[in-house]
This record gives sequence, C-alpha cells and structure tokens, in this order.
Amino acid sequence: MAKVIAFSNQKGGVGKTTTCVDLAAYIAAKGKKVLVVDMDPQGNASSAAGFFERTGKDSVYEVLTDEKSVKDVVKESEIKNLFFLTSSKDLAGAELELAQVMIGRERVLDEKLKEGKEEYDLVFIDCPPSLGLLTVNALTAADGVVVPIQCEYFALEGLSQMMNTVKLVKKYLNPSLEVEGVVITLYDGRAKLTKGVVEEIEKVFGDKVYQTRIPRNVRLAEAPSYGKPVSLYDPRCAGAQAYAALAEEFLERIEK
Ligand SMILES: Nc1ncnc2c1ncn2[C@@H]1O[C@H](COP(=O)(O)OP(=O)(O)OP(=O)(O)O)[C@@H](O)[C@H]1O
Ligand SMILES: [Mg+2]
Repeated sequence: MAKVIAFSNQKGGVGKTTTCVDLAAYIAAKGKKVLVVDMDPQGNASSAAGFFERTGKDSVYEVLTDEKSVKDVVKESEIKNLFFLTSSKDLAGAELELAQVMIGRERVLDEKLKEGKEEYDLVFIDCPPSLGLLTVNALTAADGVVVPIQCEYFALEGLSQMMNTVKLVKKYLNPSLEVEGVVITLYDGRAKLTKGVVEEIEKVFGDKVYQTRIPRNVRLAEAPSYGKPVSLYDPRCAGAQAYAALAEEFLERIEK
C-alpha cells in the first residue's frame, strides 16, 4: 500500500516544491513507483516536471470536483516510475468549491486517492504556502508530513501555527498522521547564522531533522525553467547530490 507524504510549510519559498519533485525523482530512479500530486494552484511542481498546464482539464482540479478519478488524469513524466497529478491556477477555484461542501470537505483528496494509490509505492503531495482547505485535504490524506525549513533567521516563525494544524488534523480527521521529517533547505555552511538556526530547528524537531542538508545551489533554481528535475538537468551539481543523499536517508527512515 502506498505511503502518502505531504510536503508542507505555510511559509512561502522554503523549498517545498523543489524538495517534493527532486526527492521524488531520485526515489523513482531507485525503482519505486512515485505519484506526485500538485495541490498548489501555482502549479510549480507540475511545471518543474515539464507540465505547463493552462486550464484545470485533466488535472487534480477535476479529481477534487469529482468529475474524474485519479486514474483518468494521471500523467507519466520523463522519468521512469514518476507520475503526476498536475495542477493549474484553476485549482484555486476548487478550494472555493470545496468550501461550499457541507460534509466531508476535508476528506475529498483522501477518498479520491483510495482508488488509485495502490498502484504506487509512494504518493508525494506538494502543498501550497497556506493552511487552507487544500493543505487540510493533503494532511488528511497523508500518513506523514515532511516540513522543509529554510535555513535563515526567523526560520521557525509561523511553524507553530502549522504544527497546530497538523495536531488538529491528527485529532479530528486523521489519527495516523505523523511528522515524517524536517529538511533544512537553502543551507549555507559559510554563513555565520547557520549554526544557530540549525541548533534551533534541532531543538524543536530533534531527530526528525534529516542529516542531509540541501545547499543553496543555483542549478536547483534553474532546473524547473527547463521543466526538468535536477537529476536530469544537472546530476553532478551539489544540489542534485544533496537530493540523491536525501532520497537514501528518506527511504532508510521510511523502511525502518
Ligand atoms: N536549495 C536551493 N538553492 C537555490 N534555489 C532554490 C533552492 N531550493 C529552492 N530554490 C528556489 O527558490 C524558489 C522557492 O523554492 P520552492 O518553489 O521549492 O519553494 P516553495 O516552498 O515550494 O514555494 P511556495 O511556497 O511558493 O510554494 C524557487 O525559485 C526555487 O527554484
Ligand atoms: Mg511550492
């Protein structure tokens, strides 16, 4: 049965999408079948894999509004074993439509994934930078949440709100939800404040923090504009090597 992991942090630009897509690509390369669900109307995970969607047709939008099943709209990526449920800005409309549903609106994605996810080893959900219904749907469908945290001053700001949402979803909607791990992103070992920030993150999350740090690396930022995960764009760069290492660490932890 597929394990479902949501990549979430309400803060914008901390590396959720980069981590979701590049980690998925390396895990797929190791022979696991991975489905990436793009739950962000920005559609960054989709375009990072070469899917530049203009409308909500054949996307997660149609799945959430109950027009189609996961199997109907899943797309095969350039990487073997890596599949996508894409999104477009229309997904913001689905969030509004979901808000009108009186009963079960938090469980729509979970229900839709029930049929469909058994074909995969892992389902990765890329969340938007907010704690609205799309994120709550992702957390309700998930077994674990991976929190990317940017290594900077104020890194933990806003995270208590996010952790509170995780706690509430666990209490009322999804008792099996756990924090799977914390990824330190945009890491700069030379910057003076880095050590203090890492210590602060480790104080809060302990051994949930992955040992692998993702460095600030321009190749990681360039890859999406070519519609490719970094493993295809420049597998030798430091960022690619970090995500390859994180894939090892992630699988080791999940298989324990
Ligand atoms: N390690 C890195 N080094 C350099 N640039 C990076 C790194 N990680 C991410 N970026 C770039 O920083 C920007 C934000 O990253 P990303 O889109 O992954 O964050 P996000 O948390 O998903 O953002 P949002 O909250 O908007 O969804 C992107 O332009 C991305 O290419
Ligand atoms: Mg994103």
